[in-house]
Amino acid sequence: MSKGKICIVGLGYIGLPTAAIVAAEGYDVHGVDKSERVVDTINAGNIHIVEPDLDGFVRQAVEAGRLKAALVPAEADIFMICVPTPFHADTEIPTPDISYVQSAAKAIAPFVRPGNIVILESTSPVGTTEAVRGVLADEGVAVSEIFFAYCPERVLPGRIMTELRENDRIVGGLSPEAAEKVAGFYRTFVTGAVLVSDARTAEMAKLTENSFRDVNIAFANELSLLCEGLGIDVWELISLANRHPRVNILQPGCGVGGHCIAVDPWFIVSQDPTNARMIRTAREVNLHKTEWVIDQVRRAAVEATEKLGRAPVVACLGLAFKPNIDDLRESPALEITEHLLHGDENNAALNVLAVEPNIHEHDKLPLRTLEDGLNESDIVVILVNHLAFKGMNPDDKIVLDFCGFGR
Ligand SMILES: NC(=O)c1ccc[n+]([C@@H]2O[C@H](COP(=O)([O-])OP(=O)(O)OC[C@H]3O[C@@H](n4cnc5c(N)ncnc54)[C@H](O)[C@@H]3O)[C@@H](O)[C@H]2O)c1
Repeated sequence: MSKGKICIVGLGYIGLPTAAIVAAEGYDVHGVDKSERVVDTINAGNIHIVEPDLDGFVRQAVEAGRLKAALVPAEADIFMICVPTPFHADTEIPTPDISYVQSAAKAIAPFVRPGNIVILESTSPVGTTEAVRGVLADEGVAVSEIFFAYCPERVLPGRIMTELRENDRIVGGLSPEAAEKVAGFYRTFVTGAVLVSDARTAEMAKLTENSFRDVNIAFANELSLLCEGLGIDVWELISLANRHPRVNILQPGCGVGGHCIAVDPWFIVSQDPTNARMIRTAREVNLHKTEWVIDQVRRAAVEATEKLGRAPVVACLGLAFKPNIDDLRESPALEITEHLLHGDENNAALNVLAVEPNIHEHDKLPLRTLEDGLNESDIVVILVNHLAFKGMNPDDKIVLDFCGFGR
């Protein structure tokens, strides 16, 4: 017997695993995506993204008739919006782009009936759940009879199918009744605690979690710059300082990447630039660290040119935004490698070999094997501490280590 019908808009890294999990739980899922390729792939029982165990869940749900994908929404008891929320990067302070959320809200409007639930899961600036209600009201929906809530997602890619069930969740309602009703729905498939609040607090909680990480990484990155100037090994410094019982400094790197931590703090800053001083500064420190790395490599290349009497070959090891994954979104390592490879108006292009063992090909960068990178280079730049680099020995090269390799 069906537990009810759910219409999920946006079938990407969040929407599709959620659709598959709730289908396994006994709900009938009408999944919606604007991409025909995504819809066709899912209806054939296949998946278009890489995530462990997702394929089996989707195949089973489609075969059981519990999951169907389509280009347009349908009537349901519960509507869930899981579309992207990128930012406009062309302004002084990057601002969130909630147009995908607005168009998803507009798309469900003709199908929403009194008593239905509407949930926003996309990472969103504070006030977006109210904006969703506003879109539905403008479309003529009797919004006072709808239960609206915001429920942020905190899953770690690679563990989504487990964390979707096990993580604690925050449900922020536009009314206490909505919060309780929506929390009741999540409790049917989440084994972690489902915590109830209002929508604005829940929206801010998601942004706060990622800003907390960004600020803490910025502290480590700032230390790495200070230590360079003072002739101190930052890795040793941090490991010594962390022996204090109440100190836990994170590790520096070549910046901060990924589509969450490098993005979400701007949602806070753009809403209140006057007061979001530390969060903004942390973003700037982390962005500056990436520029500093580029500068360090360029300086080393100039010195090597004088010594060798020719332009050096530079191997950049790692393109992903963190160790042992293939995700290049907002990756500082990728940005550094592309900058060095192409140069800019003030700096010549370098002879760069890009090495990323976790991906097979890249549309803009010709990839080389680790072996080629080590054999053919004069300078080895270690940008990401991938396990695949463990045991390599670049000691006969000029080594620039920005991620604590071998620590
Ligand atoms: N991926 C993660 O690990 C993660 C974690 C936490 C939060 N989030 C947040 O969840 C939201 C979704 O992220 P994602 O990673 O699933 O994105 P994604 O890009 O993987 O998937 C989004 C899907 O939505 C579809 N889409 C876009 N606009 C649409 C529309 N109007 N109607 C129907 N389909 C539409 C796209 O075609 C795409 O398939 C974002 O706000 C993101 O910040 C993601």
